[in-house]
Amino acid sequence: MTDSTTTDTSKTLAENSSRSMTIEGRPLILARHAGEQFLYSNLCPHAAETLDPLGGNLSNESGDLLRCQRHGAEFLTRTGECVAGPCLGERLEAVPFTAVGDDIYLD
Ligand code: FES
Repeated sequence: MTDSTTTDTSKTLAENSSRSMTIEGRPLILARHAGEQFLYSNLCPHAAETLDPLGGNLSNESGDLLRCQRHGAEFLTRTGECVAGPCLGERLEAVPFTAVGDDIYLD
């Protein structure tokens, strides 16, 4: 267990899906792929805007990509690297966290 400060007690995230959440006032994107969870700042490097103005799931069908709803930038779920779109080569900011059951704690 880390020096966690905040938890989000929301429902379990389905495999190959993602959703936004706010912890300590920080807008975040939580994604699940290949049995792992990934947490990123919900801020697209292209235009410093949230990735999900329409809300809902940003993951593609196989869960390996996250797609920004604004201009279609695609990010590797595992690393946050932009692999297509207007911010090619940039990346989402990874946020260190610990998952305990369905709870997410910022490290
Ligand atoms: S704001 Fe994300 S692709 Fe433009």
